[in-house]
Amino acid sequence: MRIELPVNAERFGSNLFYAVQKVFELDGGIDTDDAFSNPFHVVRKISAEELFAIERDMAVIIPIKDERLRLLEGVLCGIPHACFPIILSNSQREPIDRYRMEQAMVDNFCRFAKKKYAMFHQRSADLAEVFKKGGYHDLLGEDGLVRNGKAEGMIAAIVLARLLGKKYIGFIDADNFFPGSVLEYVRLFSAGFSQAKTEYSMVRVQWHSKPKIIDSELFFARLGRVTRITNQFVNQLLSLHTGFESDIILTGNAGEHAMSMDLALALDYSSGFSVETNHFVNMLEKFGGVLPTTHPEVMRNGVEVFQMQSRNPHFHEATKGDDHLKEMIEGSLSVLYHSPLCPETLKKEILHELKRHKIISASKKEPTNPRRYPSLSKMNFEKAAKVLDWEKHSNMPNV
Ligand code: GDP
Ligand code: CO
Repeated sequence: MRIELPVNAERFGSNLFYAVQKVFELDGGIDTDDAFSNPFHVVRKISAEELFAIERDMAVIIPIKDERLRLLEGVLCGIPHACFPIILSNSQREPIDRYRMEQAMVDNFCRFAKKKYAMFHQRSADLAEVFKKGGYHDLLGEDGLVRNGKAEGMIAAIVLARLLGKKYIGFIDADNFFPGSVLEYVRLFSAGFSQAKTEYSMVRVQWHSKPKIIDSELFFARLGRVTRITNQFVNQLLSLHTGFESDIILTGNAGEHAMSMDLALALDYSSGFSVETNHFVNMLEKFGGVLPTTHPEVMRNGVEVFQMQSRNPHFHEATKGDDHLKEMIEGSLSVLYHSPLCPETLKKEILHELKRHKIISASKKEPTNPRRYPSLSKMNFEKAAKVLDWEKHSNMPNV
């Protein structure tokens, strides 16, 4: 792969946010021509071996809830062979057991592809047991099972990836229409990590475009509404603290993102669809140097965030409606609003924005504060590992 070097970066305490990087060639080739391979320092070539070395250590987490099976199959097909897929499903079990259908398809697919996988239902007793034994009760609801929600599924899968000894985790939604773009996202994750100088790194994908159909013509929109609003306010929070206006963040709510395991275990999480925006807010809070840190080792080493622009358009299931968009905007903005770092002026603007778009009612004093989950570093992974029956939830034997 050949990628542009980031033109600039913004520092906030120990966090280093790099500007969006563009891909020049998805396949960078093997260099044989010195005259062409040397002088272009603005573009970096990442060899296939480097990408492969990272992918071998990467779990790709696919959160899924009642998506079409064909879409999930396409997503599996786009994941590079070296990566380990973890499918975390919250699909319905009654009256039709969609989870069982997913399971049969995944198992069959991976048999043909000769590929290892792990798959869990978010509401299964086995998964809940991992968190009980590991002493992390925050994720469990009153019924003793892992709570509902996309973030909750993601957090559960991070723990599974940790138990598998993975160094990196990438998230890919199950509702993507194009296997080719899934492949590109994972390659972008690896390309991002290959540049990291610390163990605490994150890679976020910026979509080149999101096609829509307007008047029966394809229109390639640059930014979705949720993305535009989230980025604006994340940048404002950053700018108000540094004193310099910035628009460096273009991936505020990117669902397609990846983290090094070390960073994933240090962060706190928030519930539902606010989770991605909360990554930024939490990094600013924990490693920004303004508030006391719970992880001095991360502060010392520094955190790097890479933003990579994909070349494939992002085409996913888009029939989820306006309420879904509103829920996502409220989730994103509420984690900003409720952050101790959020100045009063920004709180006012956020409230105004939410009311203007009729996302919250005019009489509401503040947006609903999403549930929070403390960092997974307090979990006892040795104890959790003992109760896991891999044979039941993967195509691997227990070890
Ligand atoms: P959007 O693409 O950001 O609009 O959000 P989606 O509704 O497509 O959700 C992103 C991904 O999370 C999709 O693959 C969903 O199937 C999945 N998802 C949504 N809710 C849940 C949940 O409660 N649990 C799990 N495990 N996955 C979920
Ligand atoms: Co989607």
